Amino acid sequence: MNKVKGLKSKDLLGLKDLSLEEIKLILNTAHSMKEVIARPIPKVPTLLGKHIVTLFYEPSTRTRTSFNMAAKVLSANVTNVALSSSSVAKGETLIDTVKNLEVMGVDCLIIRHSMGGAPQLAARNCNASVINAGDGFNEHPTQGLLDIFTMLEKKKTVKGKKVIIVGDIAHSRVARSNIWGLKKLGAEIVVVGPPTLMPKAIEKLGVKVSYKLDDEIKDADFINVLRIQKERMEKNLFPSIEEYAELFGLNAERMKKAKKDVIVMHPGPINRGVEITSEVADGPYNVILEQVTNGVAVRTAILFLLLGGKTSG
Ligand code: CP
Repeated sequence: MNKVKGLKSKDLLGLKDLSLEEIKLILNTAHSMKEVIARPIPKVPTLLGKHIVTLFYEPSTRTRTSFNMAAKVLSANVTNVALSSSSVAKGETLIDTVKNLEVMGVDCLIIRHSMGGAPQLAARNCNASVINAGDGFNEHPTQGLLDIFTMLEKKKTVKGKKVIIVGDIAHSRVARSNIWGLKKLGAEIVVVGPPTLMPKAIEKLGVKVSYKLDDEIKDADFINVLRIQKERMEKNLFPSIEEYAELFGLNAERMKKAKKDVIVMHPGPINRGVEITSEVADGPYNVILEQVTNGVAVRTAILFLLLGGKTSG
């Protein structure tokens, strides 16, 4: 008899907390969801009657829109709380906001917050499912999963593959979710950036630290370029944009050193001409828009697994 499989928690808060089996379950389910989304009418009734709320305390284009689309593929009702016109603007706490939404009958809260740990706090204070859509510098698990999904589409496996994560590691929740997930799948990870953008003790997560992109690029299978997050920097952490671009930016000249089948990724939004030039961002090695497409399938899979669907296998 087939064993019914699902996620262990009611919430999806980080890749640190997921087992390898749970990561594989989400990725396999995302493959099925990609087929559903490709149908002429991409809609199934699985989550009919479920209520999903997005609560974003920070801006978003990709994550919020793709969660909206994912909810609609599964026939769920989705409400976007606009913080500027909500009672958060009057000083309501996160816990009070979450408790009030819960008693209205919300089944799932998708939360983005500038404070690391905010979705975890919300999850502890309600029975609804909570999905972390990015918390401070901590994690962005759905971005990590869509990045891994895209890598597997391109190279079948990440086991033993060299993944360079380059840029603002210190302020990057995308880097942390990539590291937690990719390590569980057996990838070799090198984080590259200036010392001022490198968090202390990051090597304890099992990654190599490098300050020279040119030394690492030649045998990389994947290069994941991170956005310079000026909005999170309290002081200038590198002398100038020009110097950063010169030392750590991915440009056509630097790409000549890379393998012919290297894959270039970026979570978006891109600072063109800073961490990556337009020539590379739009060039033959890039899968940046494919990452965005895959985000809808991955987020559909997560809503399906958390709110209603069970898979057998
Ligand atoms: N990558 C990402 O999280 O993009 P958004 O900020 O547009 O959601």
